[in-house]
Amino acid sequence: MTTTSFTTAARASACALGALSLAFSAACTAPSSQAVDTGVPGGRPSSAVRAPGDPAIPERQTARFPDGWRLPAGTRATFAPEVMAVSNSPEASAAAAEIMRAGGNAVDAAVALGFALAVSWPEAGNIGGGGYTVVRMADGRTAAIDYREVAPLAATRNMYLDENGKLTDKSIYGHLASGVPGAVAGLNALLERYGTMPLSRVMQPAIKLARDGFVVDTALAGSIERASKMLLRFQAQSPFTPGGKPLAAGARLVQPDLARTLEAIAAQGPSAFYSGWIADSLTGEMQRGGGIITKADLAKYAPVWRAPIRTTYRGYGLLSMPPSSSGGVTTAEALNILEQYPTVPSYGSTQWFHLVGSAYQRAFIDRNAKLGDPAFVQVPLAQLTSKTYAARLKATIADTRATPTRDLEPRMEAAAREPMNTTHYSVVDARGNAVATTTTLNNSWGSGVWVRGAGFMLNDEMDDFAAQPGKPNMFGLVQGEQNAIQPGKRMLSAMSPTIVLDPVDQVLLVVGAAGGPTIITGTSQVILNVIDHRMSLGDAMRAPRVHHQALPDSLTFEAGGVRPAVLDSLRGYGHAMRELRSLVNVNAIMRVKGGWEGQPEPRRSGGAVGY
Ligand code: GLY
Repeated sequence: MTTTSFTTAARASACALGALSLAFSAACTAPSSQAVDTGVPGGRPSSAVRAPGDPAIPERQTARFPDGWRLPAGTRATFAPEVMAVSNSPEASAAAAEIMRAGGNAVDAAVALGFALAVSWPEAGNIGGGGYTVVRMADGRTAAIDYREVAPLAATRNMYLDENGKLTDKSIYGHLASGVPGAVAGLNALLERYGTMPLSRVMQPAIKLARDGFVVDTALAGSIERASKMLLRFQAQSPFTPGGKPLAAGARLVQPDLARTLEAIAAQGPSAFYSGWIADSLTGEMQRGGGIITKADLAKYAPVWRAPIRTTYRGYGLLSMPPSSSGGVTTAEALNILEQYPTVPSYGSTQWFHLVGSAYQRAFIDRNAKLGDPAFVQVPLAQLTSKTYAARLKATIADTRATPTRDLEPRMEAAAREPMNTTHYSVVDARGNAVATTTTLNNSWGSGVWVRGAGFMLNDEMDDFAAQPGKPNMFGLVQGEQNAIQPGKRMLSAMSPTIVLDPVDQVLLVVGAAGGPTIITGTSQVILNVIDHRMSLGDAMRAPRVHHQALPDSLTFEAGGVRPAVLDSLRGYGHAMRELRSLVNVNAIMRVKGGWEGQPEPRRSGGAVGY
């Protein structure tokens, strides 16, 4: 039996997925307002995951959320005894399950999922962008691969300033906004090192989805609608806006150009993308729109294998992404500060918000000033991830008083608002292999440029550089010299694909998120909720979230997520409280007795598929 859950409107199209020959069940008839658990409580234990009664899986405690918080506590995530895949697209999660059913491991499945996501979640899934993957194989091997985009060779430090030195929007919209894409090279390298199947096999579900199409659900239709003006501005011929109108829910999205592109990559490998006719299409598109990516840029692109950031939190192990992403370092620094407190304040209390927010504030000050591409700048990794350094930072946190960011050293300004348009997926298999991948075009639908003839969207990742060091970019992000534009350099990211190991070294959580800087705080709060507060995965994902990124110097919270008395107390401490409707898009898997639970983001759409 295959177990699925879909959040919100994504279900509609997943129910039309007969072609993937997986046994979808009650999810197709259940109410659409929340995740549907069609799991098999107490299902047969897998040979790979630890048996019921495993002392490494402590009992979960029921969470209590503020009255009026919109996501209910006590909702169980989707259970499956052997394998699980979770992403923002039910179709893509199903592609991963299909590959594992056919004998593939979690890496084969994750690569299948990555390519399928480029078809079924085109606002962020991609072959025209880049990402990061952290792997933990059942035999204990670990790795991280960086396939972040790089600045084109013709990029210059001030390329986004106008003649008056003012920042333009060209790092966000249009042909000049793109870094050299890394996704195809990265996924292929990952498969070659840790997978068991050929690329031509794992890409089959993606090719089929592109060629035969799938039914657009309301989540995708809403996304296309919101992006349609931008899409039409750069390319009227994309399949997302036929006849100049955004594709509506219930329509079938068929992408023949993308199918042809995927078929070429499947047959010839990444060279089809980086030097063949697809490269010609991409550079032709660049020439048409005034972009600067050349065939030399594409030919030069290479992913980089890196050692994961390894840290511990209260006896649990963490593996996460090192620079060029800031995710692993900033998460480690924040958790190290929190670990200095022998006891954790109760979840949702004034003291909890204050300490967690203050830890993030300090970690983000370092992130914004000190991190960048290690091939270009010195990054003080050992210092930032050390427990001794965390103890010194903890000493700067007053018990009942917020510290203004301007009073903390170094005095760095930081982000004001962040794009929410990356996407994360987690996959585990029956042997206990685990893959965490976060991938992005940056903004939703990237630069808005669809490559004519090759059928894919291009990223606007150049905006993650400090386009004008010391000044806010178009998203308000103010970063330092370490992250200034240089040809061939990777722009700093916040992506945080993370694998948490329990005290006996078994995979406990596979987690990551979308949402710019909030990726770091959202991912780490799911980890804190599971470890500190013993929440179930369903509760850990539904718990109200909080965010601090140094500047703006405010504690951001979700509407209804803080009790009024706590809000008053936090204001009394001196925190500027900033309310947002929703924070972060997390997708996670957790090991439970007898198997795995998978939970797509309850605030967005997505699917958990396992068996
Ligand atoms: N593009 C968002 C990030 O990499 O952090």
